[in-house]
Amino acid sequence: MTTTGRPVRDDGASLFVVMVAAIAAIGGGLFGYDTGVISGAILYIKEAFPMTVTTEGLTVSAVTLGALVAAMGAGVLADRGGRRVTNIAAGLVFAVASILCAVATSVPTLIAGRFLVGCGIGLTSVGGPMYIAEASPARIRGTFVSLFQLAITVGILLAYIVCTALAAAHAWRWMLGVGTFPGLLLAIGMTLMPESPRWLVKQGRERDARAVLAQIDPHGDADGALARLKTDLAAEGQGTWSELLHRSLRPALIVGIALAVFQQVTGINAVIYYAPQIFQSAGFTSDAAALGATTGIGTINVLATFIAIWLVDRAGRKPLLIAGVLGMIATLAVLGLAFRDNVASASSGSNLGVITVVCLAAYIVFFAFSLGPIVWLMISEIYPLQNRAQAVAVSTAANWGANFLVSLTFPIMTHHLGSAETFFIYAALGIVTLLFVLARVPETKGRTLEEISLLWR
Ligand code: BGC
Repeated sequence: MTTTGRPVRDDGASLFVVMVAAIAAIGGGLFGYDTGVISGAILYIKEAFPMTVTTEGLTVSAVTLGALVAAMGAGVLADRGGRRVTNIAAGLVFAVASILCAVATSVPTLIAGRFLVGCGIGLTSVGGPMYIAEASPARIRGTFVSLFQLAITVGILLAYIVCTALAAAHAWRWMLGVGTFPGLLLAIGMTLMPESPRWLVKQGRERDARAVLAQIDPHGDADGALARLKTDLAAEGQGTWSELLHRSLRPALIVGIALAVFQQVTGINAVIYYAPQIFQSAGFTSDAAALGATTGIGTINVLATFIAIWLVDRAGRKPLLIAGVLGMIATLAVLGLAFRDNVASASSGSNLGVITVVCLAAYIVFFAFSLGPIVWLMISEIYPLQNRAQAVAVSTAANWGANFLVSLTFPIMTHHLGSAETFFIYAALGIVTLLFVLARVPETKGRTLEEISLLWR
């Protein structure tokens, strides 16, 4: 207990920070659920509405486009209205959008609903990690922001489970509509949370900021932290969008945007969105076997995220990134070789199924403790406070743009180039990612956000 009577966990994280992270992470859960649910729901939507390939493609990809657009809007909202307001808006948008999808009586309404769901995802992917990062003590910030990624993975897994459970009833309206409840929970929960202390200082609300800093770190020196925040802010620019082009911000922006893009172009969503097809092309003929293997992938994704939660503030960001990306390169290369050999000798198909399961499972483990959580973490911690909201927004939009491109091109690439070549391309992009991490990414473990901005000066 502290002198104020507030319970404190052994590692010094107040119950308050745990609450902040848990509520903001609901947005991560919706991010995962709503990106995962469509692969199952689309089968039954097509029964209800006549669809062309174009309207089907739009129904699936509207979320990604919505997220891309809303990420930029979230930059303005998080800067002017605050981090908390951005998360409240995300919750409300999720709730309204989920209802719209559930009651849609035409394809255009459904596409509009899915676009709006994407807007919720864009708002939460900017506002969630940034809010958690700004409200966490430096020594445990990595663990807490990784909870956002954990929530994404749980959301994806729940989507697979809900789709399987509701498949017999063809209940796509429920599949899309259940997001209403967590959306409302996020909005209401966030109204009970305080604003980020860093945003408060930026607004000149020092007394409020000091009160939140004392809640965050009951044993820490709130006055000292406030003084450091003020000094840091005074040394920075005015917080305008045009400053993003300034030379002093460039190194950080290059790292943030590059990490965001590398997270996608190394193929994660080819696996997450298309796993059943990959398993089928590797010889799993029944739908049940392919779906079972997909649920297994979802479970491994959740479990392996705990490796990051455990190690990110101990080993640091960079060692995890290097180990994870190395593993991703190796597993993608083996997958490529296995698919190539299978094409060369049509008889070796039985091995391909086993190799595919093992490689995809290992690939997911490597992603889940590296590029998955650490990209969202580093995007929210590497930028100086004055320009953080805008820079996070641009990096997040880049992530969604790359996600859109990869999910659009994966079927085209496997069709025209072949599965083996597609996996080799992702492996090659993994090598580029590794070289970039080694050369340009700084270690941010244990540093306060203000100390991290000094790294670039
Ligand atoms: C990525 C998503 C991906 C998910 C998989 C997230 O970090 O941003 O695109 O689907 O991880 O767990």
